[in-house]
Amino acid sequence: MDKFRIVGPTRLAGAVAAGGAKNAALPALAATLLGDAPVALDGVPRVRDVETMRRLLAHLGQQSEWRGGTLALAPGGEASPDDAPYELVKTMRASVLVLGPLVARRGHGRVSLPGGCAIGVRPIDQHLAGLEALGARVALDHGYVDVRADRLTGARFRFAMPTVTGTENLMMAATLARGTTTLDNCAREPEIVDLARLLVAMGARIEGAGEATMQIQGVPALAGAAHRVIPDRIEGGTYLIAAALTGGDVRLEGTRAEDLTPLLEWLAGAGADVEIEPGAVRVRRNGTLRARDMVTAPFPGFPTDLQAQYMTLMTQAEGVSTIIETIFENRFQHVAELARMGADIRVDRRTARVHGPTRLAGASVMATDLRASASLVLAGLVAEGATTVDRIYHLDRGYEAMETKLARLGARVERLRSAE
Ligand code: EPU
Repeated sequence: MDKFRIVGPTRLAGAVAAGGAKNAALPALAATLLGDAPVALDGVPRVRDVETMRRLLAHLGQQSEWRGGTLALAPGGEASPDDAPYELVKTMRASVLVLGPLVARRGHGRVSLPGGCAIGVRPIDQHLAGLEALGARVALDHGYVDVRADRLTGARFRFAMPTVTGTENLMMAATLARGTTTLDNCAREPEIVDLARLLVAMGARIEGAGEATMQIQGVPALAGAAHRVIPDRIEGGTYLIAAALTGGDVRLEGTRAEDLTPLLEWLAGAGADVEIEPGAVRVRRNGTLRARDMVTAPFPGFPTDLQAQYMTLMTQAEGVSTIIETIFENRFQHVAELARMGADIRVDRRTARVHGPTRLAGASVMATDLRASASLVLAGLVAEGATTVDRIYHLDRGYEAMETKLARLGARVERLRSAE
């Protein structure tokens, strides 16, 4: 398993380009199953989760190939399976995104139940209840959900909580349903708006994406399209936090500042200078960092996917910051590793209190999930001496060429490859 070795402390300075959003690319790839013509996607990041989704699509008969910076997808033509096997779903929960398209387009989809994952239980009951509301029959057998429908029928469905992939699955399913579907209490993340843009380009009729209530009028068929995936606000946000953390000066290019609120407000509140430029955001810090409480929430709240990185920032801030994780019940696994580097963080269920500032010392630490890994890499940038972050495959799921991007900003970081 590859590792990162980081020697700190360092100050990051310079420009970094935002990659395409992993969490917009994954539903976009799944959406290509809905159409019967080629789809060309630009801005798809070359990360491991995208490769996993491509493998799953190939299994389902949807071929994809890189043509320069464009990922071109086209149906294979042959009769192919309608299932997402356990081997793929267990490495990537987002595999469940093929369920809506398969049921809508082929009348049948079978997906391995994702089970638990490092950050929590994460059930898919809302995806299934939504499909049932559209007339699908859901059966559980041998660890799989088997969903069938001759043709889905539009209906009104209210999500019990805003779920990102749940909203995406239902949106995709409803595009080919008979009649109109109204979805209430939808997730409003920018990735959902991006998916709606692609679906509309393919011929779907969707109103209200990005709002709590969305209306989808079913159409008989969807066509091909060309689409550019939005920049990754979580990847970009990670580099901006790193800038504030290291007392640096980083310009994130090719980003959309509107997707980065409230992070930018929190960075400013903690003592960083934030400048919004056309297509770019610059974060600098000269003065002291101040503790600032934070609660994760669905968009437009503070994203859970930046909670771990923000916690690393707060280890260097003056005062006590209270961080509450409201989305996932087990997303504090970085705490124990940060503590091994010298952080003073006390956890009580979903609340973490970070007492800062503390001097961090380089250590060998273990990545447990994608965003936790990023928080440990950030800690390594400000720690004295060498930090080794093991199990970097978690990072490779969602950060494209992280070591290259960090090195260009002045970090001393290298990937230690292992033969395994
Ligand atoms: N939930 C249910 N039932 C459902 C669906 C969700 O109880 O049927 C609960 C979850 O357990 C959780 C909450 O609802 O407590 C919200 O989860 P959501 O469904 O929104 O999460 P997700 O769609 O599985 C996506 C991202 C995650 C990100 C979350 C929250 C993708 C592919 N994944 O997951 O990204 O943390 O939304 O914003 O879009 C990451 O990139 O590191 C990552 C984990």
